[in-house]
Amino acid sequence: MKTPEIKKVLTDKAWQANHLNEYIQITGWVRSIRHSKAGISFIEINDGSSILSIQAVAPKALVNYCEIEKITTGVSITVSGILVESMGKGQDVEIQAKEVKILGIIEEPENYPIAKKRHTFEYLRGLPHLRIRTNTFGAIARIRSSVANRIHNFFFENGFHWVSTPIITSSDCEGAGELFKVSTLDYAQKNSTATSANYTDDFFAKETFLTVSGQMNAEAYCLAMSKVYTFGPTFRAENSNTSRHLAEFWMVEPEIAFADLEDNATLAETLLKAIVGHVLENCSEDLNFFTQQIDNALTERLSRVLEKKFEKISYTDAVEILKKSKRDFQFPIKWGLDLQSEHERFLTEDYANGPVIVSDYPKDIKAFYMRLNDDGETVAAMDVLVPGIGEIIGGSQREERLHVIDSRIQNQKLRKELSWYRDLRKYGTVPHAGFGLGFERLVSYITGMENIRDCIPFPRTPGNARI
Ligand code: 4AD
Ligand code: MG
Repeated sequence: MKTPEIKKVLTDKAWQANHLNEYIQITGWVRSIRHSKAGISFIEINDGSSILSIQAVAPKALVNYCEIEKITTGVSITVSGILVESMGKGQDVEIQAKEVKILGIIEEPENYPIAKKRHTFEYLRGLPHLRIRTNTFGAIARIRSSVANRIHNFFFENGFHWVSTPIITSSDCEGAGELFKVSTLDYAQKNSTATSANYTDDFFAKETFLTVSGQMNAEAYCLAMSKVYTFGPTFRAENSNTSRHLAEFWMVEPEIAFADLEDNATLAETLLKAIVGHVLENCSEDLNFFTQQIDNALTERLSRVLEKKFEKISYTDAVEILKKSKRDFQFPIKWGLDLQSEHERFLTEDYANGPVIVSDYPKDIKAFYMRLNDDGETVAAMDVLVPGIGEIIGGSQREERLHVIDSRIQNQKLRKELSWYRDLRKYGTVPHAGFGLGFERLVSYITGMENIRDCIPFPRTPGNARI
């Protein structure tokens, strides 16, 4: 017999009407079980299709009732029975079980690490392979998957092409030196000739790394295909143990040709609104869960994102706003210094009370590829900041003028390594722009989950690469 998803049984009204009082079969894992004195067991079963669990009512008369009585949380089962209208609160239908087949028991139930209902997120981080069985992590996984789907659809609907940019690279896009080395050389055993100057013995015969961003490769494709995006894992060996940083995270990076910073900001705003609108419309069960359990203001805050235009300020104005705030910030505020997380959060939470786009940062605190503004001091950069997180998007108009980009790459060795990137400016250059949206920061924003380690299935952070 074909087993329907539990989500379908519980929420698809047409399906329910068609199958009411019929024999159906469902499969899943027991979320909870309760036995009444009268000899009836109430079993809540979940299969991950939604946050909702279906109730199966198993009477004493079942031949294996003595086995059913021993069922604990986490046991996998198949239940066959009649779909009936539910007398109980919270669900329209339930199953009157005629047969309960146990597929997999919980060995040593007293040692099952997630048997109890409530655990701290910190405890669950130690069990990344099991935490997905909880309501919270199931809801995060479904939202993450649905948002990824919306992102791909958004770009396809808008004429973008998806480009798979490489994960192994020889360039440091951001120039921040936060690179993981990729090598097949055993440095511990090799003699001291395996120095940074000598990679001839290494797999690629040159120094290679895990990519920090697919941007530069995306630019190459953009300058022939006009509208492209890359969406993949990126890696940063930055030693920041914060609730916003991962060593391995996913990034969405569109790149558009014949476009300036304003077009870029418009794309960022349209994309974020499309994602938020999608989640409000299509992920309401999971969103309600987060609103009830994690952050009461979540749904309202997300709804407001759709209502108004994102606030836009320049970096120079942002510095003035921060100075005037008279807040006792930990880090200094001075034109030329980078904005810290506390400053970003003030701008988005207190000043704008919603997403804000900060543009035109001093050139010395931003990457070499950002387009130099006419003032000679700032670059056409933009960061999108959101409440609770701070920076969620970083992007810029790219420097398309060969002589200007040359003046920004003073280092001759680097200029040689980037000769292919210079080619893009030498041969048919056009104004173009793009940005990177941190996917886990987005998931954190949408779910209200405060720690980014809970927004990716198997987080990698300094000192931790479990499983
Ligand atoms: O601002 P970033 O460093 O920009 C770039 O990498 C550009 N090359 C993107 C582009 O223009 N195509 O990173 C972009 C976004 C940040 O705004 C943030 O959301 C996320 O990536 N991000 C991180 N997310 C989790 N952990 C980290 N360590 C992150 N570093 C950046
Ligand atoms: Mg940035």
